[in-house]
Amino acid sequence: MKGQFDGLTKEQQLEIKMKRVVRLINSLMDGNRDPILRKIYDEFGPRIFRRCSAPADFAEKLFREKMRGKGFKTAVEIGCLNGITAAVMSQYVDVVHTFDIIDWKDKYKIWKFLGVEKKIRFHLIKNELEKYDIINGLDFDIAYVDGNHVNCTWSDYLVTRKCGRIFLHEATHESSQPWELAEALPEKEITKWQFGPKVCSLVYWDNK
Ligand SMILES: C[S@@+](CC[C@H](N)C(=O)[O-])C[C@H]1O[C@@H](n2cnc3c(N)ncnc32)[C@H](O)[C@@H]1O
Repeated sequence: MKGQFDGLTKEQQLEIKMKRVVRLINSLMDGNRDPILRKIYDEFGPRIFRRCSAPADFAEKLFREKMRGKGFKTAVEIGCLNGITAAVMSQYVDVVHTFDIIDWKDKYKIWKFLGVEKKIRFHLIKNELEKYDIINGLDFDIAYVDGNHVNCTWSDYLVTRKCGRIFLHEATHESSQPWELAEALPEKEITKWQFGPKVCSLVYWDNK
């Protein structure tokens, strides 16, 4: 698969990275953001937010809009990484089950620092079938599909759709799986957020 830095000089790569940090800092200065993002930034710095959807895509605002005060008990997240979005979601439910194929270590420090570690269950999965087996046995109100966007979006959707409410990340362009899936679902059940032509967008499906 083509990497985003392929063919770029070191200087060009550095410039892109610097712009990202500036964008992150500017976005965190917005007083309407979830305060836990600023707390994480102050303690861990910008690097921890790499590939995290909560700050860059304003996802945390959208989670707040769709989850706060709804009486949801359980959420599922596929693709945990540093656990930042799991921490955001844990504010609106009793428990978040979050899945990953890699046991990234920073999430434990972040969850402890925020005091949310008891509300989050991390599942390190060996393969797709193990993930689906565990999720099949769970009862949950809402899901966030943010794992392997190239191969697994459709199957992650199939296994989580019983809850009736799913956020899909990285519906960035027409050939991406999340985009294809969003196009295939009934239009009236879909909300799309696009934050710019090159900025990842989030889709919310709700058939409840
Ligand atoms: C974009 S990051 C997730 C970011 C996280 N949801 C957040 O917003 O903070 C994608 C993560 O999915 C994990 N991943 C990749 N393939 C996966 C799969 N098949 N099932 C579950 N997780 C997967 C990667 O290891 C990586 O940590």
